[in-house]
Amino acid sequence: MVDVNEQIDGAVAQATKDFALVAEQSSREALVRARNCHLGKEAPLRLMQRTLGSLAPDERKATGSAIQAGLKVIEAQYAQVEAAVEAVELAGQLARETVDVTTDVTLHPRGALHPITALINRMCDVFVAMGWQIAEGPEAEAEWLNFDALNFTPDHPARFLSDTLFLDPPEAHRILRTHTSPVQARTLLTHDLPVYVVAPGKVYRADEYDATHLPVFHQIEGLAVDKGLGMADLKGTLDHLAKAMFGDEVVTRLRPHYFPFTEPSAEVDLRCFVCHGASVGDPAHPCRTCKSEGWIEWGGCGVVNPRVLQAAGIDTEVYSGFAFGMGVDRTVMFRNNASDLRDFVEGDIRFSRQLRGVAR
Ligand code: PHE
Repeated sequence: MVDVNEQIDGAVAQATKDFALVAEQSSREALVRARNCHLGKEAPLRLMQRTLGSLAPDERKATGSAIQAGLKVIEAQYAQVEAAVEAVELAGQLARETVDVTTDVTLHPRGALHPITALINRMCDVFVAMGWQIAEGPEAEAEWLNFDALNFTPDHPARFLSDTLFLDPPEAHRILRTHTSPVQARTLLTHDLPVYVVAPGKVYRADEYDATHLPVFHQIEGLAVDKGLGMADLKGTLDHLAKAMFGDEVVTRLRPHYFPFTEPSAEVDLRCFVCHGASVGDPAHPCRTCKSEGWIEWGGCGVVNPRVLQAAGIDTEVYSGFAFGMGVDRTVMFRNNASDLRDFVEGDIRFSRQLRGVAR
């Protein structure tokens, strides 16, 4: 009996010692190993339990409950180490998953529309609000649509290589459109009347690259064809657009001009925003913005030449129309006081930042 009790105490003592080590190492592996060792099938006290059958009944009972008591102690100790190991594991996991909200982060600023795109959207909105449609045409355009359909004579100077960029091969008569007006011809050929369309887009000319010229720039074209439209409708539409772009104070004027596809034709000017005309005839106070002319050119316009309508098979006894084409880049320049067109294409973020929100 004494022998057995000593064996039990020894097993418990060994377990206590091993568990203390596990707690020190605080490792899950060591914990599993110690559990198998002291509570598994081959644990010393489990092996002793298997020998109980060979004992006399009263001895069997006493030894059995002594072993049970020893196992209980070991189990209780095990529960403690297990809890300790788990607590350390959890603390480690929390530490690993901590987010340092004070750490430096790389901020990716939100992108924005280019000021020209933003203004095109805005100009289109003015027309969409009046029920007009948006039309489009290709930038690589048929020479015929860019010129012939718009009543340019075969020897018109605008066709010459010095102004127009021709695409290879020359026999294909394909060019980079020099204005958005070919969309007028395309619209007349594809739409039922009446038509009210605006067509924004890129245009190309063999121009110098300087503060006031870009070889690629933007226009917004307008075309209205209906019964009884004329110059007064054109003037009213342009005034509405000018006010929407520059505010109610803006003053416009139509100055006689020539375009092959409109008759009569005019250029639309805006009263100079800077000197409001005060610099005219006052050499002591010149104005750089309008070159002391009091007005700045905004675009071309006119009543659609009947020959253009007839080329699209339209009965000019019944229908008439007006058209206009405005420089978008110029509009952004005037609205935002930008003095160099090159800033719009050179991609310097400091320039775009200045215009952020303004061109909306
Ligand atoms: N297409 C002309 C230009 O580029 C402008 C214009 C458009 C004139 C529509 C009259 C009518 O200068």
